[in-house]
Amino acid sequence: MYEEIKQCADFIAQRTRAFDPEVGIILGTGLGDFADHIDVKYAIDYKDIPGFPVSTVEGHKGRLIFGMIEGRRAVAMQGRFHYYEGYTMQQVTFPVRVLKLLGIRCLFVSNASGGINTSFRVGDLMVITDHINLMPNPLIGRNMSEFGPRFPDMHNCYDRELIARATAIAEEEGIKLQYGVYVGGTGPTFETQAEYRYFKAIGGDAAGMSTVPEVIVARHMGVPVFGVSVITNCGLSDEAGDHEDVQRQGAKAGRRMAVLFRRMIKNL
Ligand code: HPA
Repeated sequence: MYEEIKQCADFIAQRTRAFDPEVGIILGTGLGDFADHIDVKYAIDYKDIPGFPVSTVEGHKGRLIFGMIEGRRAVAMQGRFHYYEGYTMQQVTFPVRVLKLLGIRCLFVSNASGGINTSFRVGDLMVITDHINLMPNPLIGRNMSEFGPRFPDMHNCYDRELIARATAIAEEEGIKLQYGVYVGGTGPTFETQAEYRYFKAIGGDAAGMSTVPEVIVARHMGVPVFGVSVITNCGLSDEAGDHEDVQRQGAKAGRRMAVLFRRMIKNL
């Protein structure tokens, strides 16, 4: 596996003339248009990268974008891989391994989730302060010791310093932030009412179907992580979850999310 990842990174480094990105960004729901803020130097479709999985979800493009954001060298994943699509956890997290070998020193992620903290409103941005993993752990199997230890620590999983900076920036920009614990389930079903109550009871603030695998793998490699979730529905309300609603709410929150991410990257 390590060899495959290395070969993939070498291929990309060659195609991008050793661009050496400092920051990696996974453009989930909410950051779909963030690519417009990137001064693009290179873009490579996933399908043109040997060994890379290919995205199938509506509204998710599949390419790596290399370029400048606020004077920093960045690589953005436009389109991510979900466990519910049928990929293995190794496939879901493969790109994060590749980004690390390309040189990223921190990882920014965005996603959509259903709020279960009753003080959250649809359209809120929640800074992810911690997570609860209810999916298979992507590190199950032989440890890739080239990347990190067998038993990685998960304290400070979402970097406290980056969270503090986000708080300061949001205050300056007048952006309202919520904070909370992201519960990652497999999907593709939205949760039952009983499951939302269960997620709340175990300490969750929002429920989603992504991010946790990539974050675990980033932390295995010692990469600091900053994550924000758009609250697209309220799980404990009587209304049904709906994929189109998730996309719509994600787009609406995008502008605030983009301001926050740009300034975070500028201040790194
Ligand atoms: N549950 C899981 N994933 C989600 C939800 C939800 O309520 N909303 C957006 N993504």
